[in-house]
Amino acid sequence: METKLIKVDNGNMLTAAREAAELLNGGSVVAIPTETVYGLAASIYSEEALREVYAVKGRPQDNPVIVHISDESMLDGIVTEIPEDARILAEHFWPGPLTMIFRKTDRVSDTITCGLDSVAVRFPSHPVAHAVMEAAGVPLAAPSANLSGKPSPTTAEHCVHDLWGKVPLILDGGQCDVGVESTVVSVLGDHPVILRPGIISLEEIRKYLPSAEVSEAVTRKVSDDEKVASPGLKYKHYSPDCKVILVKGSLDSFSRYVAGQRKEGDWAMCFSGEEDHIPLSCLTYGTEGDAESQAHSIFAVLRELDQLGAKRVFVRAPEEDGRSMAVSNRLMRAAGFEEVLL
Ligand code: TXA
Ligand code: MG
Repeated sequence: METKLIKVDNGNMLTAAREAAELLNGGSVVAIPTETVYGLAASIYSEEALREVYAVKGRPQDNPVIVHISDESMLDGIVTEIPEDARILAEHFWPGPLTMIFRKTDRVSDTITCGLDSVAVRFPSHPVAHAVMEAAGVPLAAPSANLSGKPSPTTAEHCVHDLWGKVPLILDGGQCDVGVESTVVSVLGDHPVILRPGIISLEEIRKYLPSAEVSEAVTRKVSDDEKVASPGLKYKHYSPDCKVILVKGSLDSFSRYVAGQRKEGDWAMCFSGEEDHIPLSCLTYGTEGDAESQAHSIFAVLRELDQLGAKRVFVRAPEEDGRSMAVSNRLMRAAGFEEVLL
């Protein structure tokens, strides 16, 4: 298949959105930017395109995808009710990097939800995602636009790398602002539960809904046959080809540790300004203690390590609470939940 790449700016946004909408309404998939990561979009009403999303990504058939809307009124045909908790979170965090799990209507295909009776919905804030949905006039089902298991794409180049020749169109909206996927919150129970940490933290959600909690499945390895609230938690994620070794300790102890371990093909992932202290080639991912800057570059750096042919990467562990939970969680998964404690 021939893939077209369109760089989108304010001048051509409408024409690019129309071109994408035509493909989407014709049953094709299109890669589009959002403020979190790029998504591989399909009309929720095209079974053919929905199946293509799973096929192109190599995504397991039991991992449901998120439905994206460009207006809260689009919830109408999709969810059976809007719980009070959801109204409150929508008021504060939509449009933005928050996904909520609702009870679904019959109009939502089992291909989207993998047979669950719930559906994940997000209202993204990215102008290109918004323009595409407005032009298409339908909600879009979209998982992250990476091949399954690989780090999510935060630039159009990442989409080109994973999807060239497999999709008809990639819209280039530049680098994603947030850099990690949305916070996923279930609003189905008597209190909200975070199923996937994102840049909207537990603390921010608790400001409005004090009973919110993080699912215990977020912070541990889930076995293949276990039934969990969010099927995505089961799968190994975000893994570059190189082995990721997450190391927790001070900069000094990290440097001593890698000095004792180093072999050919080893790299370090550290915070900016630390490179000179570490006896390995380093890539930096943001600033120590600054979750936003870390989230912004983490996936690009994991991808770059593969480009560089790294065999192993020793990673300076970020903090685990607040907004950093999003970053720490992605690295724990990339490392297969193994951590070196110094
Ligand atoms: O920021 C994002 O959320 C990006 C952009 C493109 O919007 N999308 C994204 O989609 O990260 P994906 O498919 O890579 O991750 C969707 C997550 C998975 O962990 C999946 O298991 C969970 O949402 N999910 C989807 N439907 C669900 C449901 N009905 N109940 C529980 N979890 C669900
Ligand atoms: Mg994904």
